[in-house]
Amino acid sequence: MTTATGGCGPAGLAAAVAAHLGRAVPPEWLAALEAVPRDRFLPSRVWLRDGHGGYRPCDRAAEPDRWRAAAWADGPVVVRVTEEPDGTVRPLSSASAPGTVLAMLAAADVRPGARVLEIGTGTGWHAGLLAARAGDAGVVSVELDGDLVAPARAALAAVGRHPLVRQGDGADGWPAGAPYDRIIATCSVRAVPAAWVDQLAPGGRLVTPWASAWCAYGTLVAEPTPDGTLRGRWLAGGSYLPLRARADAASGTVAAGPDPLAAPAEAAGLSPWAVAGDDYQAQAVTGLLTPGVWHVWDGADDEPGVHARLWLYAEDDAGTAVVEVASDGTTTARQAGERRLWDEVVAGWRWWREAGAPALSRFGLTRSAEGTVRVWLDTPDRPVPRR
Ligand SMILES: C[S@@+](CC[C@H](N)C(=O)[O-])C[C@H]1O[C@@H](n2cnc3c(N)ncnc32)[C@H](O)[C@@H]1O
Repeated sequence: MTTATGGCGPAGLAAAVAAHLGRAVPPEWLAALEAVPRDRFLPSRVWLRDGHGGYRPCDRAAEPDRWRAAAWADGPVVVRVTEEPDGTVRPLSSASAPGTVLAMLAAADVRPGARVLEIGTGTGWHAGLLAARAGDAGVVSVELDGDLVAPARAALAAVGRHPLVRQGDGADGWPAGAPYDRIIATCSVRAVPAAWVDQLAPGGRLVTPWASAWCAYGTLVAEPTPDGTLRGRWLAGGSYLPLRARADAASGTVAAGPDPLAAPAEAAGLSPWAVAGDDYQAQAVTGLLTPGVWHVWDGADDEPGVHARLWLYAEDDAGTAVVEVASDGTTTARQAGERRLWDEVVAGWRWWREAGAPALSRFGLTRSAEGTVRVWLDTPDRPVPRR
């Protein structure tokens, strides 16, 4: 047990988590936070936000206070990165933000003795929390990145926890340990892998961060029914690194398709910030209604008369669009290709607003045993209009 009473330490972290949850941390998870100190799972070099949209390394020896503050704050701490050819640092693994972790664990309702599969071991901290609650014997954690497995095992052993940690592709689950009462992913998915449904015990529960091509936001909480259907709802919150495919160490998306700047400009009819700004629920709903469309902001800093541009791309390469906000506030859209991507996004946003801008928690998903997915509002008999 550590003796920290606030600030940097489990007590301070518990206070930050309570603020995130809007309620006291449940006693069973408070005990786990004490028994599995987060700082014991972080490597001596981590990467922290640089305040300009990127990351800067932080070495414990050189910047002990910065390192320690990050370890005990309610924010993600990146522990593994890849560097793009242009020097951009992109995170591959992080110790997730504690408030989000505790919200997911509360939604998972993990009980002592439960069999739990975690996808995405990372540092091992979350696996340690699970093992502290459910018991070592019931917890299996799978990590794609082989270099992370040994450090996670060592950190777990150092705090007296010994869940099974294995290298593998979490999309396959871990059949040897199935069935599981709980499957909890700590990387985001755009679709539920069939293996996870197959490996859930009757009465089990899946909790997974969600992503669309548009954004990574929301957490799906779903349960199987006896006929092999999976049914669940999203919770607000949770923005996780993606579940990567084995061959996809970097998982970037290459822009393709016709050049929208060659298309005529039309009135955009909607501010691009409505769907790609700070309203994460609007972003998440846009992703649900317009699957396979992604976006990127372009500050257009060096172009006189242009304030910002939002570029849209279809993963099927059937369309591109650019929405431009001029310095005087005029907003135009140019769309190229057989799909008019901005029109699709605006139609989805209008439907959502006309429905009263329902919160993400009112949206649900049904996945049939054959893998057909339906997204609905409030009840499974109210499907949403998806493109
Ligand atoms: C946000 S981090 C996990 C944080 C971790 N639970 C912790 O407590 O430190 C996401 C992790 O998922 C891993 N991951 C990504 N794709 C995966 C896959 N297909 N199978 C297993 N792990 C994967 C990443 O390598 C990364 O370590």
